[in-house]
Amino acid sequence: MSETINETTKASPIKLSRKPASQPRMPDGIKTACIRTFGCQMNVHDSDRIRRMIRDAGYAEVQAYEEADLVVLNTCYVRENAVDRVRGHLGELYRLKREGRVKQVALTGCIGAAKESAELKSQYNIDLILGTHNTYELATFIGLPTMEETYTPNLPGTEDGHNSFVTIMTGCNYQCSYCVVPSVRGRMVCRPVDDILAEVERLVKSGTSYITLLGQTVDAWREDGKRFCDLLERVSDIAPRVSFTTSHPSNMEDRTLRIIGETDTIVKRLHLPVQSGSDRMLKAMHRGYKAERYRRKTEVFRDSAPGGTLSTDIIVGHPGETEEDHRQTLKLVEDCEFDSAYIFKFSPRKGTEAADLGDLVQDKVVQRRFSEVLGSVEQNAFRRNQRKVGDSEEIYIRHGRTDKGESIGETWGGHAVYVDTGAGVGEYIESKIESAGPHALYAREYGRN
Ligand code: 5AD
Ligand code: SF4
Repeated sequence: MSETINETTKASPIKLSRKPASQPRMPDGIKTACIRTFGCQMNVHDSDRIRRMIRDAGYAEVQAYEEADLVVLNTCYVRENAVDRVRGHLGELYRLKREGRVKQVALTGCIGAAKESAELKSQYNIDLILGTHNTYELATFIGLPTMEETYTPNLPGTEDGHNSFVTIMTGCNYQCSYCVVPSVRGRMVCRPVDDILAEVERLVKSGTSYITLLGQTVDAWREDGKRFCDLLERVSDIAPRVSFTTSHPSNMEDRTLRIIGETDTIVKRLHLPVQSGSDRMLKAMHRGYKAERYRRKTEVFRDSAPGGTLSTDIIVGHPGETEEDHRQTLKLVEDCEFDSAYIFKFSPRKGTEAADLGDLVQDKVVQRRFSEVLGSVEQNAFRRNQRKVGDSEEIYIRHGRTDKGESIGETWGGHAVYVDTGAGVGEYIESKIESAGPHALYAREYGRN
């Protein structure tokens, strides 16, 4: 997996080394390409597609810009600092291109789909800009035959490896006040069920042990009267291990929550972004639910999957957020006892409603509220993780060894676990949880499955 940068503070578990492996220059005649991924799981998945294309076109993948003929930046646009960060990379690439080290630069993903991309193209002398709907045009650029594509998710996803992502829908029909996704990813398009199941079957046959279903509002998927819960049941009959992200509380049905608890092959983890605990803010954000309804959903989940993990996204400092609104968020965090949360400071995005709202919250107030929410999430998460100490758990090995020589695995409840094991990615081990921090559990292996 290429570098993934999440522009947020996340009470989340997984930290892998980002150090690029030092690689020798390729022999003359072999073209090289470097892919950098910014942002969410959707982008990681799109980068897998890009990776397949560059391999098919005869490129060898390298990790450092200086070693690459072609650099592809697959970008995220959700928050302003994401753009600043990409500008930093573009500046460096502009210099390397002038020195003749890098030959071509392509910018893809959400920034590519935004208006700003035209200015970036001329400022940094970018060779190719692609949005999120026409990633396949990269094929022609790198010398592959044109791909007839009307619908990006039909491109095959990751095939190699044990962990595969399958996009089941793209875009979003909501209009949250702060969010650029609907304007860069477009309205919701659901992928046909037969295509999804055929891809899952093919992946499982080729050795995939873990399928993650992806979509901006994954639980909004539907087709001819069939709903996400029906699809999830079908996929969990085929795949040995399944999870999904990201859900929207308004689409999340109790039936789906029950299926998670009842089905052996589904990881009992739910990522359900709440954004705020205040009804006033939820209304201003156009989220379409009240805090009480969100709470009830989480209760159904906890009841259905008592050993599971619940995570969320929270925005602090949305325009108009008062101290009382903030208190409501803190209260919700306490009540829901999240196992982890991504906490974002509001960032005004051009073209969104919230960017023009005025009534901004002062930076230092945002910073304080941010720290308070983070502190509360971490305390809760730590408490919950502590309760796991002493438990025996079957662990799925998800990532190979880290810098410290430990592997990162996952319980059926969705906890991240660091463990010293010789087991490879995709294998299961029996383990005992020996200690816990706010972001992860630490285990000792005592058997193999
Ligand atoms: N400012 C801050 N956070 C944002 N998010 C989306 N847009 C913004 C914004 N303008 C956060 C939301 C969303 C997550 C992917 O990013 O919490 O759920
Ligand atoms: Fe953005 Fe809201 Fe759609 Fe999520 S549901 S992608 S926050 S508009």
